[in-house]
Amino acid sequence: MTSTTDELDEVAEQQRFDALIADEQRIEPRDWMPEAYRRTLIRQISQHAHSEIIGMQPEANWITRAPSLKRKSILIAKVQDEAGHGLYLYSAAQTLGITREEMTDALIEGRARYSSIFNYHTPTWADMGAIGWLVDGAAICNQVPLCRASYGPYGRAMVRICKEESFHQRQGFEILYELSHGTPEQKRMAQDAVDRWYWPSLMMFGPSDDASPNSAQSMAWKIKRFSNDELRQRFVGMCVPQFEALGLECPDRDLRYDEETGRWIMGEIDWNEFSEVLAGRGPANAERLRHRREAHDDGAWVREAAAAYAQKMQDRRRFAA
Ligand SMILES: [Fe+2]
Ligand SMILES: [Fe+2]
Repeated sequence: MTSTTDELDEVAEQQRFDALIADEQRIEPRDWMPEAYRRTLIRQISQHAHSEIIGMQPEANWITRAPSLKRKSILIAKVQDEAGHGLYLYSAAQTLGITREEMTDALIEGRARYSSIFNYHTPTWADMGAIGWLVDGAAICNQVPLCRASYGPYGRAMVRICKEESFHQRQGFEILYELSHGTPEQKRMAQDAVDRWYWPSLMMFGPSDDASPNSAQSMAWKIKRFSNDELRQRFVGMCVPQFEALGLECPDRDLRYDEETGRWIMGEIDWNEFSEVLAGRGPANAERLRHRREAHDDGAWVREAAAAYAQKMQDRRRFAA
């Protein structure tokens, strides 16, 4: 008897959920949602949060070596923004019933994924330009549609994040612009950084649509709004005139625009490299995780002190009552 009532309830809840999605309404933490929807969001939002946090490392590497006080303060602000993005996203994931500790443990124990792009090294200052322009640029293409994601806390976090990402992209472009209009050596440095970051930034959109099994379900749930290939097309279209403004060459020598289909025809992306980095065998995977683990251990006293202070305040209120 109870199970039949439960089943009927579940059918009604599913119908309500489907109607909200169909009507472009938002799903909020208090609402019933299918377990697979919840799990998909926890995976996606926590991976996204981890990417913001790990993504601080390749750029933090240059804070002490930035070429001027102005560049240093801009870079500090940018890296700090990424920490904030991580925090909004961890908070959004927590509304789905996972704890911050569980997410952090999964990351530092190597069970969670984060964007492969952050497993590349940053040997020159021009890498700060290439990361801002290409990596944050690709992130914007991916993330602007996420502002309309069906899950409320995720969509709302993305609105603020996207505003900050566009500052990140402009500061990267400006670094490259100055280098590419500087001495021949500076221009070479800019071209070299762009050559190294261009292909990995195209990989950020993920495999082609036919090799991306979860995409269709995410699109049906209106978490994802455009396919990986559509987003990659948009990104390339955005980069082409900017390459011209920078006076730099696009590393994809086969790139051309097909007037008939209105699409960019790109050279072959090295998916082998992508899966190697994804499998933990990229240039800096081990270093990134080691650093994150050390930072977590070094921060233990801060977490303990905050917890002790919160307990003291709670006790004080209890005695006063
Ligand atoms: Fe970010
Ligand atoms: Fe960013």
